[in-house]
Amino acid sequence: MASSKKSTPKATPKPAASTSCFVVWAKRLVILAVLLATFAWLDTIKDRWYVFEPGFLHELAQSAIEASPNDTAGMITHIVTNLTETYPKNQININTKQEWVFNNAGGAMGAMYIIHASITEYLIIFGTPLGTEGHSGIHTADDYFHILVGEQWAFQPGQLEMERYTPGMVHLMPRGVAKQYKMHEGCWAMEYARGWIPLMLPFGFADTITSTLDVPTLYNTIRITGREMIKNLLIGKI
Ligand SMILES: *[C@@H]1O[C@H](CO)[C@@H](O)[C@H](O)[C@H]1NC(C)=O
Ligand SMILES: *[C@@H]1O[C@H](CO)[C@@H](O)[C@H](O)[C@H]1NC(C)=O
Repeated sequence: MASSKKSTPKATPKPAASTSCFVVWAKRLVILAVLLATFAWLDTIKDRWYVFEPGFLHELAQSAIEASPNDTAGMITHIVTNLTETYPKNQININTKQEWVFNNAGGAMGAMYIIHASITEYLIIFGTPLGTEGHSGIHTADDYFHILVGEQWAFQPGQLEMERYTPGMVHLMPRGVAKQYKMHEGCWAMEYARGWIPLMLPFGFADTITSTLDVPTLYNTIRITGREMIKNLLIGKI
């Protein structure tokens, strides 16, 4: 009696519980499928939000080097002045304040000045007068690294010789590719990324959270990036 009593109440809720559990998981799967379909669709149309052109930026980097030989500050001014003259304020927001912050990512360290940041593009000046080396990260954006001063070296597993990028050259890292890179001695570059920028941010913050604990840098990086993204969203630049 006792055992049948025990098993009866146990047996009754079981089918109900598994049915509701099935419904819950079915709903979750449908939501997941809708989200994945939305992301896949957004990924096919992201190009319409790009404002910068890789070919134009490459020419701009080369003209900056030509206009200010041996003068990194002059190159940066040349780039920012040209961008503010080329693009109307209601199309894209350019940050003309040179707010420099450290950037630690993938074991490499340098400083950056964020010229532009939105959901689908960013443009920064990145480098260090000391040299650095690390993992490039695996990114959700194509990355165009325009060397202004110094050299960047890189390689992927399987390569026995290094790739070498010098001033005026552009190192294109397509989405999903990872490399070891080295900015041998001092090197400054104009880095342009196009793709899904918010998904790149965890890589940009990981070293700070797990290693440097440089809270002011983290705060300023988030503050400037967030501010620039919002300023762009307000003028309809995604
Ligand atoms: C900006 O730079 C590009 C590429 O070097 C050049 O073709 C263009 O004339 C420049 N624009 C201005 C306003 O300086
Ligand atoms: C730039 O610096 C290098 C090395 O210091 C020097 O050889 C070269 O003449 C300089 N170029 C200009 C245009 O000042």
